[in-house]
Amino acid sequence: MKTEQLRGTEIERAALILKTGGLVGIPTETVYGLGANGLNPRAVEDIFRAKGRPQDNPLILHIPDPSWLEWYCEDVPDTARKLAKRFWPGPLTMILRRKRIVPDVVTAGLDTVGMRCPDHSICRAVIRAAGVPVAAPSGNTSGRPSPTSMADMLEDMDGKIDAILDGGDCQVGVESSIIDVTANPPRLLRPGGVPLEELRAVLGEVELDPAILRPMGEGEKPRAPGMKYRHYAPKAPVTVVKGSPARSAQYILDHIDHSYWEGVICFDEFADWYPGHPVERLGGAVDCWENARRLFHALRAMDEAGVKRIWAQSPGTAGMGLAVVNRLDKAAGFHIVEV
Ligand code: TXA
Ligand code: MG
Repeated sequence: MKTEQLRGTEIERAALILKTGGLVGIPTETVYGLGANGLNPRAVEDIFRAKGRPQDNPLILHIPDPSWLEWYCEDVPDTARKLAKRFWPGPLTMILRRKRIVPDVVTAGLDTVGMRCPDHSICRAVIRAAGVPVAAPSGNTSGRPSPTSMADMLEDMDGKIDAILDGGDCQVGVESSIIDVTANPPRLLRPGGVPLEELRAVLGEVELDPAILRPMGEGEKPRAPGMKYRHYAPKAPVTVVKGSPARSAQYILDHIDHSYWEGVICFDEFADWYPGHPVERLGGAVDCWENARRLFHALRAMDEAGVKRIWAQSPGTAGMGLAVVNRLDKAAGFHIVEV
């Protein structure tokens, strides 16, 4: 299949492909998504095929306007309305009870569905023009880092999807925060573009799902099925080094093997500490928003450089840091050194 590369103005063309059951790469403010008509089970099945995604991992539905929520969800609680009012459009996905109209293949048979209204004008224009909710996981091959540009998505999906719509580089760079509002208190299943502190400011208590900060043990089941899979991972093994930026940079310098092709993902302040090694910058050590924007591309760039091992510095868990830490820890399979 030839993948059409559409300019951001070719909204009608992208909408037509969605309406007729095709797959379209769509930009959002978080990461690029692999979209299909969320009410067409056959089109949704094609998403799983293109990504190589396990069938038991549900998809989220994207809507262009908060008012669409009622069409697909039942018993929408007050907490959900409050969150939608404050954060939509924006990088927040809410888990709600689904209506029957949502096909089983979207929710992997669960009686809940993830709903998101993205803050990206091209994305919302396409969904509105298609007139259907768009089911879309991140546009990477299953297991790889999510794509934050059209080029990164084409790397995985060229020839596997009908079209991709160019919306520029993603402004957030990590996926949406996922909050289960059917739980009491509400539970954060995945940290993302809306920091936990901001969710707590609106809701008071929000629980953290244990899968966010540690690997799941044998027989343990994370609430977001996707959290159990190896994810965000480049080909080379990753070691995350945690501690103050100066200490972690020094630890990497002391342990990197100069006779071996090892890469470093580090804060800008330390970018010239590792001559002879491929280096990807995460932005400044105190700028976790910039760290989020650059992380996935940095992981992909390490694959491109063909390194045999990756060392990575890590921010703290405050604010957007929590999402960055979660993605890095998972990319490393929780191979972490504390210094
Ligand atoms: O920012 C994002 O959320 C991006 C863009 C494209 O919108 N999408 C995205 O989708 O990250 P995906 O499929 O890569 O990640 C969605 C996660 C998965 O871990 C999945 O298991 C979980 O959400 N999920 C989906 N529906 C769920 C449900 N009903 N209950 C619990 N977890 C759910
Ligand atoms: Mg994903």
